[in-house]
Amino acid sequence: MYRAAVLTVSDRSFRGERPDAGGPLIAQMLRDAGYDVVLTAIVPDEQAEIEAFLADAADRRVAELIVTTGGTGFAPRDVTPEATMAVCQRMTPGIPEAMRYASMQVTNRAMLSRSQAGIRERSLIINRPGSPKAAKENLEAVLPALAHGLEMLAGGPADCASLTN
Ligand code: MTE
Repeated sequence: MYRAAVLTVSDRSFRGERPDAGGPLIAQMLRDAGYDVVLTAIVPDEQAEIEAFLADAADRRVAELIVTTGGTGFAPRDVTPEATMAVCQRMTPGIPEAMRYASMQVTNRAMLSRSQAGIRERSLIINRPGSPKAAKENLEAVLPALAHGLEMLAGGPADCASLTN
């Protein structure tokens, strides 16, 4: 079983002005998919705070998968992708490409999410948009393929030849 951490990035949820709907929804989806959700947190749209959470969770090997929700759009304070790129050692562009491709079938506004994904140490970090609907649709698109990536990241004997999925 892989461990997951969920980070909600939202000024308003951090200040308690709006309940965090996206974070708990993602956590439940991950649990339903067999992940052990070991850590959840809310930070404001501050790049340094987002970076600190991501780097700490990866460096202390808290979770193999770290999912963020929020702060991927064009608003001046949307900096989750920049924080993610700053802490990742290797980017995994296929994951946001797949999310945007799948989400474009739902709404052409999917192209407005600047979500990134990448690897720091032995953790995979994936951004999601902020609205619960968008976060859910994005996660559904990539979840089935993630376990194979996490297996490779852990150095396991991942068999890429068996194209059953
Ligand atoms: N992706 C899906 N699947 N469904 C959506 O409704 N909304 C889009 C986009 N991605 C959406 C989506 C919109 S309107 C925006 S502005 C961007 O995600 C960024 O959202 P964020 O700033 O909350 O991260």
